Amino acid sequence: MKPLQLFDPASSTYTYLLFDPVTREALIIDPVDQQLERDLAVLRDQGLKLRWTVETHAHADHITSAGQLAEHTGAQTVAPEACGIATAARQLKDGDTLRVGGEQITVIHTPGHTAGSVSYLWREHLFTGDTLLINGCGRTDFQSGSAQALYKSITQRLFTLPDSTMVWPGHDYQGRTHSTIAAEKAGNVRIAGKSLAEFVATMSQLHLPRPARMDEALPANQNSGLGRGRQDADGACLLQVQPAQAYAGNVSPELACQWWQAGQAVLIDVRSDAEREWVGFVPGAVALAWKQWPGMDMNPQFDEALKAVVPTGGKAVMLCRSGVRSIAAAKRATELGLEAYNILEGFEGDPDAEARRGTRGGWRFRGLPWRQN
Ligand SMILES: [Fe+2]
Repeated sequence: MKPLQLFDPASSTYTYLLFDPVTREALIIDPVDQQLERDLAVLRDQGLKLRWTVETHAHADHITSAGQLAEHTGAQTVAPEACGIATAARQLKDGDTLRVGGEQITVIHTPGHTAGSVSYLWREHLFTGDTLLINGCGRTDFQSGSAQALYKSITQRLFTLPDSTMVWPGHDYQGRTHSTIAAEKAGNVRIAGKSLAEFVATMSQLHLPRPARMDEALPANQNSGLGRGRQDADGACLLQVQPAQAYAGNVSPELACQWWQAGQAVLIDVRSDAEREWVGFVPGAVALAWKQWPGMDMNPQFDEALKAVVPTGGKAVMLCRSGVRSIAAAKRATELGLEAYNILEGFEGDPDAEARRGTRGGWRFRGLPWRQN
């Protein structure tokens, strides 16, 4: 049993997929936003049901797709407790375990690269994030990093695992894919055979440049990757036109409601039946699920049903939970010849610091018509 190792060339980030071969339940570690479509395709091709999206830490060099994957697949977002990723549905501390089918993954708190960083152990496979890299280690010069803490984490927590343990790093810049605890203990140039003082001196002399996407990545990752561009939906900006023309544009809930009430657009609620039933719905909106629970399988009737309610060339506004599935639905509707818009923030809006929805934007929060059975 090996993990599936996926690579993002732009940030040299490794993403890992682990699954139970019997139940096909899966867990993904450190997914990257720019690889969302690839990751969804891999899940589909392998017949996997994504149960958890997991972070090793709050990344500074890329943006996670955790929030988007959760919306597309029904997975739950998971993050280390000390990373301040408040939107994650589940917060992990040292010794906690995650289950996927019959498989178990254990959390090892390994502070140093950041104070909240963790590694994950699955069978004989160790996922080290930026704590331990192949013949290297993560930097400790920003984001609550500490060379002293990193030394302790690597030498006392990771190097005490069996020598044969496979090491799967969060990055590699030279095309190497994995290593072992024995190899790193013997030959890691930063830490093998080094004293704490020597290690701290090495780390303080690295003088690395700032990661290119840091200013954008940190706030976004504190929000499971859902933070970007959302502020544009507030205030005066009611409509953003998509430069790529993949769909007509993004509209605020207020503008979408205006168009709908004036008879200028058909309002399509692409959430599942279960969501509308339990969370609330918009009376008069067309209920047309993009995906259905359980398992969030694609609705095979989507195209036909959409064509039946919106004439060719007609205008449709797409509503989902938080504005992720509605983008996918708007793209598809555009391919089918409609003028399709995504409604920003969705019905429930983004999660708050307690991972609860309802106070950060959304159709319901903005006082637009809705009801609950
Ligand atoms: Fe990092």
